[in-house]
Amino acid sequence: MTDYPLTSALMARGTAFLGSEYAILCGAMSWVSERHLVAAISNAGGFGVIACGAMTPELLDKEIAGTKALTGKPFGVNLITMHPALFDLIGVCEKHGISHVVLAGGIPPKGSVEAIKAFGAKVLVFAPTLALAKKLLRSGADALVIEGSEAGGHIGPVSTSVLAQEFLPELAAEHIVFVAGGIGRGDMIAAYLEMGACGVQLGTRFACASESIAHPAFKKAFFRANARDAVASVQVDPRLPVIPVRALKNKGTEEFTAKQREVAQLLDDGQVDMGEAQLQIEHYWAGALRRAVIDGDVENGSLMAGQSVGMVSQEEPVADIIAQIMAESEAALARR
Ligand SMILES: Cc1cc2nc3c(=O)[nH]c(=O)nc-3n(C[C@H](O)[C@H](O)[C@H](O)COP(=O)(O)O)c2cc1C
Repeated sequence: MTDYPLTSALMARGTAFLGSEYAILCGAMSWVSERHLVAAISNAGGFGVIACGAMTPELLDKEIAGTKALTGKPFGVNLITMHPALFDLIGVCEKHGISHVVLAGGIPPKGSVEAIKAFGAKVLVFAPTLALAKKLLRSGADALVIEGSEAGGHIGPVSTSVLAQEFLPELAAEHIVFVAGGIGRGDMIAAYLEMGACGVQLGTRFACASESIAHPAFKKAFFRANARDAVASVQVDPRLPVIPVRALKNKGTEEFTAKQREVAQLLDDGQVDMGEAQLQIEHYWAGALRRAVIDGDVENGSLMAGQSVGMVSQEEPVADIIAQIMAESEAALARR
């Protein structure tokens, strides 16, 4: 017996794939998705994912061990493809027998998918276009996350609703596809499940859960914000392509514009090449997010948040958030 029979039936392929009770992933959020939030999500029946971000292999090793001490349920690890020690990080996942690895931040480099599958873990990937999604699934990826521009953090240009219409009819029957970006209520989960998604991934909705270690000032900024406050960064220089980041407007948003000008100047002067320029931009974000999440500097730090931030109004335990969105999904499906 399940409390949410209609939703659970539509999530069945997703829960079988993840090994969790509900096919609700908490997307990895750098600095936020550490052992406490990840374990809380998995203990509540969802699927937590550790954000490795810029961690060294030693730090990831500790974080996985710390998470295992807090939960016996399955959880995943999110690795950024451009991390210089990617293969060492994969080795750490192998050492711990991690069951699911999410590769984010770009096309997985040669051999990475194979290295993960070699120790029996499942690989989840992101793909910005349908053609690339098909290619990645053909070449060994086990599941796909499609993430629209409503999401918090690094984003692509296309909205979740359009991606869902493009990808799900083509891929959902044969492949495991999770939908992310802008999901704040269960009604939306029901809709994507009915379109063939196996489950969903949420970030913003979980960032301020009671179990999240984010600074109280970071959480307060989320509770106060409306959807329109979560804006995408703008690219200042056409020669310096930067992946847009969605975050709450603050002084840090403006500082990012200045940072881009500074890096573009270094590029002009031949002091850095394009790869180094882009790495500097990414380091800037990691540092700025840390300032907001850990230090609570909500003026100068980066308050990465999706548009669903308007639906986050108070601190709640993860289990309550999951119960609420599952009940909303169930009610929506029962009304059909
Ligand atoms: C504060 C914050 C940090 C994030 N950091 C990462 C990250 O390190 N790696 C990643 O793949 N996605 C990251 N994301 C994206 C989330 O994993 C998730 O896909 C996204 O939040 C889903 O959209 P939503 O915010 O509309 O729920 C981040 C999102 C937020 C809000």
